[in-house]
Amino acid sequence: MIYSFYHVTDVHYYSKKNFACDWRKLPQPSTQICIMKSEEAFKKALEIIENDEETKTVIITGDLTNHGEEYSHNEVRDLLREFTEKGGNPYVFTDTHDYPYFDIYSINEKGEKIPAEHLPEEEVKLMYRPFGRDKAFDTFDDGTTYIAEILPGLYYIALGYEFTSEDKLHSPAFTDELMKWIKMHTEKAKEKGATVICGTHWPIVAPSPAYEIIGKGNTFSNGEARAKELADMGIRLFFSGHTHIQCMKEIVSEKGNKLYSVQTSSLSGFPPKMRKITVDTEKGAADIRTIDMELPDLGMTFTQYAKKGFLGIIEEIPHNMEHDVEAFANTEGGITLPKELILKHPKTVMFLGRKLNGLTYGKVAKFSKKHHGMAEKDYEDIKDKKFVNLLLELVANLYRGNAPYSPDTAEYKMTMGSVKKIEKLLSALHIDIRKILGGFTLSEFVEPLLYNGGLDDDNAQLIL
Ligand SMILES: [Fe+2]
Ligand SMILES: [Fe+2]
Repeated sequence: MIYSFYHVTDVHYYSKKNFACDWRKLPQPSTQICIMKSEEAFKKALEIIENDEETKTVIITGDLTNHGEEYSHNEVRDLLREFTEKGGNPYVFTDTHDYPYFDIYSINEKGEKIPAEHLPEEEVKLMYRPFGRDKAFDTFDDGTTYIAEILPGLYYIALGYEFTSEDKLHSPAFTDELMKWIKMHTEKAKEKGATVICGTHWPIVAPSPAYEIIGKGNTFSNGEARAKELADMGIRLFFSGHTHIQCMKEIVSEKGNKLYSVQTSSLSGFPPKMRKITVDTEKGAADIRTIDMELPDLGMTFTQYAKKGFLGIIEEIPHNMEHDVEAFANTEGGITLPKELILKHPKTVMFLGRKLNGLTYGKVAKFSKKHHGMAEKDYEDIKDKKFVNLLLELVANLYRGNAPYSPDTAEYKMTMGSVKKIEKLLSALHIDIRKILGGFTLSEFVEPLLYNGGLDDDNAQLIL
């Protein structure tokens, strides 16, 4: 059998009705989500599927709205209704950003954010039942988990989970009872010759070592072990969103069974993407294709537009370190480092900011010349480029997946050369960086941001 369907996630739809002013006159906000274009992105995604002769089935794995605004939920529901009426076959569930867990806001006449009211969680869940749970042939709990035959012979399990951390919004886990329920269904599916795939909002394994640290608690606390159990049950494809990172990872159980974790970035974040999947059960293969979202009238590609908004937050870090320590402490710096520590040492922060902003490729290459084997002529053309811009690119690469700096590029050589030198210096000082980086070496942390040596994160032919 050949099955085709789409994967869309983290729509983060923000209704234009939330604006009391003319949103067209507002500057593009520096946010990870293009709130002013999320409506257009979602409509475009549905249009692509509607026009596909091969399939009209789509799984959407949560964060349907920006922060759960009533206007946004109503419009997403209406668009799904319209899509269904035109023959679309959506399988949806809601997740954290759709519920009253985050501060929600509307925009007043002056273009400022003001607090808004949430819809209750139960009401939100009910709204979307016709587009998922009501089409299921079995459900596990009263919330999210269901199993539906999304195409004849293709079963999709939309998985709920439990939070295991004290703050309620971190470290989700699959319970033993849920695993038993999945096993029961995979066995029944096997008897019928059906194929089972899974989806949940959070990624079952971290997309990269860097994410494991910065996104601590944002992946399953028992994910890898559960992924192996699912692989042994015969499940090969597991879809998720949440991190807004484009990534594909292979997990192999001790018995040699594979599970592919297909993580798709946000439809209206950076990079704005969706996927089309074609499973060929006879060949035992899945073809995963990425669609870069495109929107008209932006004066640039939607990916470039989304990157501008996304880097807008991060670009301020080096600038604020040098020129506005208080802003640095109150924004990104204060998230990764204790705010008091930053404010106690403003001169050191400014000094580090100045040094960071003054770094050129040439200086970095000289610093690490013993470790990269390049001669000066190898980086002559790029020696005056600002190294801080490469660092910003690396942050973007964390989200983009496939990174462009392969081991033969000057950027790779000078960055990894510097990392090697720093590792040597740290070890001479008896500093164990693994303790700070959650068990990873600095090389293991940085390399995936330069270059993807594993599965292609966008397009791949997976052997199931
Ligand atoms: Fe999200
Ligand atoms: Fe999320």
